[in-house]
Parts: sequence; C-alpha cells; structure tokens
Amino acid sequence: MSAISRRTLLKGSAVTAACFSLGAGLAARSRAAPSPLLLKAQFIDAKLANDAVTPKLMTYGTVDAAATGMPPVIRMRKGETFAARLLNGLDEPTTIHWHGLRIVNAMDGVPEMTQPYVYPGDSFYYAFTPPDAGTFWYHPHCNTLTQMGHGLTGVIVVEDPADPVFDAEVVINLRDWRLGKDGTFLAPFKPRDAARGGTYGTIRTANWQQEPIYDAPAGGLVRVRLAATDVTRIYTLGTEGAAAMVIALDGNPVVMPFPIDRLDFGPGQRVDLILRMPDMEGTLVRLGNFRGSSPWTIATLRATGPSLKRDLRDVKPLPANSVQEADLSVAERIPLDFTATAEHAPAPGICGTLGYTFWAINKVPWPGDTPDPVAPLSELKLGRSYVLQVRNRTPHAHPIHLHGLSFRIINSNKRTMLPPPTDTILLLPDEQAELGLVADNPGDWLLHCHIIEHQKTGMSGYFRIA
Ligand code: C2O
Ligand code: CU
Repeated sequence: MSAISRRTLLKGSAVTAACFSLGAGLAARSRAAPSPLLLKAQFIDAKLANDAVTPKLMTYGTVDAAATGMPPVIRMRKGETFAARLLNGLDEPTTIHWHGLRIVNAMDGVPEMTQPYVYPGDSFYYAFTPPDAGTFWYHPHCNTLTQMGHGLTGVIVVEDPADPVFDAEVVINLRDWRLGKDGTFLAPFKPRDAARGGTYGTIRTANWQQEPIYDAPAGGLVRVRLAATDVTRIYTLGTEGAAAMVIALDGNPVVMPFPIDRLDFGPGQRVDLILRMPDMEGTLVRLGNFRGSSPWTIATLRATGPSLKRDLRDVKPLPANSVQEADLSVAERIPLDFTATAEHAPAPGICGTLGYTFWAINKVPWPGDTPDPVAPLSELKLGRSYVLQVRNRTPHAHPIHLHGLSFRIINSNKRTMLPPPTDTILLLPDEQAELGLVADNPGDWLLHCHIIEHQKTGMSGYFRIA
C-alpha cells in the first residue's frame, strides 16, 4: 500500500461521504437500516515472513470472497452513524470491540456483558455514532489472545470535516506474530513470560509487512497514524531523517504539538505524527523502535517528486474532542491496585482460558470475557466525577485500558508531561497516578491490562455506571 496522496485522500472521503449519506439521516434509517459494512471474520493463508506461508491467519474481509490481507482500515465520521455486520466465518465464537470509541454500551463487544456471543455462521449488527475524531482500532473480545494474535486487529480512522488536510496520510497497524521457521503459529504464550512482561512475537510487522516502504511527497507534511495492536510489545517510537511533531495521542489532540524524540506507547495505544519529508527526491525517512539495545526499523518513507516546501511550524493543534473534565473538588476517589497474585487455575469459559492466574486488580483476579463475571470494581453514579488512584505494584509496565470512557492523567509519580485525555495509560513499574473522569456513559465497562496474557490471567475488572 502506498501513501495516499492528497487527491486520493479527498476522493476517498468523497466516496465515504456518498455511501454514508445513504443511511446517515434518521428518516432514512427508520425506513430502512443503513447498509452496514460487512466485516467477515475468516481464515486466510498468507505470507508474513521468510517466504513461508502461514496457514489459518485470521482477518476481517469486507466482501464475501476470501480476504486478501490485513483487516481493513475503517473510516468513520465524527458524529455520523456507522454500521457494520460482523459475520463469523471462524470456527469459534467472536465479537468486535471498538477500542477507544465512546459509544453505547450495547455496541461495546464484550460477550455476555454487553452482547451475546456470535457463534460460527452467525451475524451481529453494530451501529453507533463515534463522538470523537482520531485514530482508534478494533478487535475481538473473545478468546482474545488467539484471535488477536492470529490477526484480528484493525485500525479505525474517525474523520472530522474540520480536520486539517495534509499532503499525505500513512496509517500503520503495528504488531508481531508468533511464528516458527516454517511459518506456522507457535503457542500463543509461555507461562513464565505471562507471569512477567508478556510473551513476544518472533516476526515484527507494520501493516502485515516487514519494514514496508511508502512514498510520500518530498517537502510535504505527512500525517502518520500508528496503532500498537500487538498483544504484548511496548514500542519506543522515534524518527530518523526527518523532523516530526506529535499531534495526537490515543485519539485525542495534544494541546500544543511537540517534537517527537522518543515516545513510549504500549498495546492499545495510538500516536499521530506530522512528519516533514526531506526536500530531495529519493531521500529516506525511518520510523523506528528505539526500545532496548538494538533499534529496528518499523517502516520507511521515501520522498517523491519536487519539493512541496512545507514548514513544520505551520502545524496547528487539531480541534479538540469534547471530553468532560472531572470536578476534582467533589470527585470520589477509587483506589485500584495492580498486583501479581497467588497462582491458581481459573475456571474454563467459552472465550478461552490460558489455564493460569498470575495477576489481579484490588486482589481479585478475573480473566475477563467470561459468562460469570465477578462483582464490579466499583459502581459509579451517572454524571458524577471520579478519581481512579491507580498503583502499579509490579516491576512491569501495564497498558491499562478503560472501555467506553476517556480519562485524564491528573498526576503521576513517574511523569512530568501529562498527555491529553485517553482510554489507555501505560502504567510504568511502580507508578502511582490519579486519573480523573466523569462517569458520563451508562453500562458495564471493562478495565484491563492490554498485554492480553495479563488480562487473561487476571488483570481485568469492570465498572458499573448507572
Ligand atoms: Cu482494546 Cu478490552 O480492549
Ligand atoms: Cu499488564
């Protein structure tokens, strides 16, 4: 896939606008449901590495014919109804969770908590209105380690007509695979790693390719949207060969764009950059992972054509999403301790168990995705302000994700720069932070570590908002 030029981008959004207008109006909807985007969860065989074919990758196809590659980048419009039909072409139950979208609880995709399981051959209709523009993503919430590990992670772009238009846009779905030399899947995790930082993949990809190269106009401003959809890996993002500004984190614009140096982001998180391409045609810009001792290339951008001579200083903050601010003077405090736990075997469930318990929230381990939930972490009153006092009592980082709501990191013993509102905090070892939120979305909302082995071995819970 090459970078989308401004013209194709505009053409692309015109097409999107046209098909949305078919079903967007309420009047039209009451006469006939809007034609939903088909997302058929299915198996495919494809090459990810070493010329070896990996059989039975999992992906979503938007047509009935066999899908050809990674799950599609789904484009939605802020404030406009989006509809999709999940058709389960797998041989096990599944659902779709729309990560980071603050939508109605019934569309959140958590089996038995917000919707029934979708069994093989069955469908489920999703329809909702995304309230925020930005970069988000989607994935199943059933047998999650296997289904995500085998491919079911896709990027969502929610557009806002007020968004500035840049010279190009590159969307990058960042993830690994646990494959043997023959291309077949290895066991999804190792228990001893699940009890530590998580089990890493053996093959690293961007958009299901190893170190892809994308063309972008020389001297142009390129919007790069990265989503960390891997089940384990935490990235330290940096650029080489071009200056770049961070304009949004986890879907929400930063108040003042700032130059990227090295930026940590973990499973579930997103980074939006504006990168200024070099003036000379053919010059390469590297997006790299600088975590650990040997940095490696995520993807490369190649300057093409005569220089557009843009200036990075012209990049203005994006229009903010309207996230309510917690009233700290009246907010109730809720302590949340993230710990290791005594090991024992959890009960099996339809959505898979890893057979171990290693982690807990407030001393209660729960694997999530089960028909038999534990009690909520806390019951919140609709419309009230809360402060979650999160505390990581482990030597590992945990990307803690909250469904259905955005929160703001108010303070932390480990950071000086506080990001915009988010749905996922990469809680650092021994970090203690306060997260402010307004409980403005009713329903049962999961809170879990997005290192899926941690989630599935106990680091999961939920809030009930009513
Ligand atoms: Cu990406 Cu429970 O979520
Ligand atoms: Cu974790």
